[in-house]
Amino acid sequence: MGKLIIDTDPGIDDAQAIAYAIAHPQLELIALTTVFGNASIEITTRNALAVLEKFDALDVDVARGASSPLHIDRFASPDFVHGDDGMGNLDIAPEQLIENELSAAEYIVEAANQHHGELTIVAIGPLTNIAKALSLDPQLPLKLKRLIVMGGTVLAPGNVSPVAEANFINDPHAADIVCSQNWPLSIVGLDVTMKIALTDWHFEELQQQAGGVGEFLWQSSRYYVDFYSSLPIPISSQRACAMHDASALVYLTNPELFEMNSGVARVVTSGVAMGQLISASLSENYLLPHWQNLPPIEWAAQVESEQVLNHFTSTLIQHFKP
Ligand code: BDR
Ligand code: CA
Repeated sequence: MGKLIIDTDPGIDDAQAIAYAIAHPQLELIALTTVFGNASIEITTRNALAVLEKFDALDVDVARGASSPLHIDRFASPDFVHGDDGMGNLDIAPEQLIENELSAAEYIVEAANQHHGELTIVAIGPLTNIAKALSLDPQLPLKLKRLIVMGGTVLAPGNVSPVAEANFINDPHAADIVCSQNWPLSIVGLDVTMKIALTDWHFEELQQQAGGVGEFLWQSSRYYVDFYSSLPIPISSQRACAMHDASALVYLTNPELFEMNSGVARVVTSGVAMGQLISASLSENYLLPHWQNLPPIEWAAQVESEQVLNHFTSTLIQHFKP
């Protein structure tokens, strides 16, 4: 499946996604590019370095990215979801703080040139770095193999407002720019990720069978599962959290587990619907200029949840078992 960059705001569920990418035999993770989101850029970058150390993946580059959105003020960090430190208040820190000298956007542009047609980016945070990389190199869409985004929701309710998902509302202008570019874009949003419930049973399985990484994923998930279990409508009858970010990686490795819808898409950039992902079917031809000349995208509408979860846990256990 080739070379992979994860653009990320670690983030408890981001760490799960990073572990999966390291564990999967067909993925070659070359870098984490960091972005603000679940915490400040200082904290998400520190967490990126620390989880790579914990996962024994020191050959993976870390390039620091955007500290704030393109055109709006940054929202307060969601400490009630991910903790003050973005990692469930475990306060992890790397022993070494070696970051790449390039910014995240520069790194993405350079990697796309170096691995022309072979590079996949999976973006699991606000899309600011991707939008900045595009403005550095407008030819970027022609150079990537594919772009997979965890973000947005088309039909399911939002998780920040009735219509907005966190990654998209954190930088709605960047999300709109990314959705309007002609590149092989697949969106894995709340329409499917809220149906993929990682339960305490899964975390215990990882804790018992996936070595130190499993223990870390169990510990860091305590805060996240507490948050999800306190929601008025829990996602599962058991204690569980939604597997947002890792689902985008499982989509990359196992697309057959997802049913995709095609369309064109825009993201609302202001007002009460800010951050809303709107998708129109390809068969419509709306004459308003906002809906003209848009490229096709695809978004995940249905998922085989149990199989995604089994695939996630078995891949981690296979790789990280002692
Ligand atoms: C997304 O928002 C972040 O809090 C998670 O890490 C995930 O990327 C889910 O809406
Ligand atoms: Ca994330």
